[in-house]
Amino acid sequence: MPKIKFTIITLFQETLKPYLNTSMMWKAKENGIAEFDFVNLRDFGLGPHKKVDDTIYGGGDGMLLMCEPVFNAIESVKKDSPDALVYLPTPAGKIWEQKDAKEIATKAQESEKPLHIIILCPHYEGYDERILSIVDQKFCIGKYVLTGGELPSLILIDSIVRLIPGVLGGENSAIIESFSDGDNIEFPQYTKPYDFRGMKVPDILLSGNHGEVDKWRKEHEKIA
Ligand code: ADE
Repeated sequence: MPKIKFTIITLFQETLKPYLNTSMMWKAKENGIAEFDFVNLRDFGLGPHKKVDDTIYGGGDGMLLMCEPVFNAIESVKKDSPDALVYLPTPAGKIWEQKDAKEIATKAQESEKPLHIIILCPHYEGYDERILSIVDQKFCIGKYVLTGGELPSLILIDSIVRLIPGVLGGENSAIIESFSDGDNIEFPQYTKPYDFRGMKVPDILLSGNHGEVDKWRKEHEKIA
C-alpha cells in the first residue's frame, strides 16, 4: 500500500508524466511509496466539444474553467475516496514552504491508509470562484504567474515525496538541508578533486575531525 497517492486533474497530463517517471519520483513509485494517477479534465467537458472553459462575466480577457466539469471530475475521484483532500495551485494561495511539505510527508508516513491528495490544475485565465467551495487548500509556489497548475503541482509533489522515508538515500539527507529549520541554507559541500583550477576544498573538511567539521558546517549555514 502506498504512503501517499496523488490524483492530478489536468488537461495536459503529458507534461507531468516524464518528470514523475524519472529519478526519485520514479523510485518512490517503484518502491510502492507514492502513487500518481491522472484524470483528464476533458473527459468531463460539456457538449459535443467537451467544453471545460467559458468567457468571464463582467468582461475580461481569456477564459475560465467552468464549475460543472471541475465538480464532476473531483466528485468522480471522491466517490471511491471521500477523504481525499483537494489542492489548487493558484497565485491567490498561501506560499508553499518546506514546513508545509514536511507536515504532509509526516502525515502520510504516520497514516494507516494512503493519504490521498487530488490536485486540480487550472489553465487559461483561471477558474470560476465557486470552484473554491470544493477545494481544501490553495497553494502558490512563488510571486510570479505561470500558464497553468502543472508545474506548481510537480513542485508540490516532489517537495513532499522526497521527505517520505525510503525515497532519498541517507535517511538524514532530508534533515540537514536548506529550510529544514526555518530559513537556514545548507552549508557548502565539496567533492573530488581537492584542487579544481586552483580552488581548494577547505582543509578542515579533510581533517577527519568530526567535531571540527560539524562546527565549521554550523558556522557556514546561512540564513535566507
Ligand atoms: N498558477 C499560476 N501561477 C502560479 C503560482 N505562482 N503558484 C501556483 N499556481 C500558479
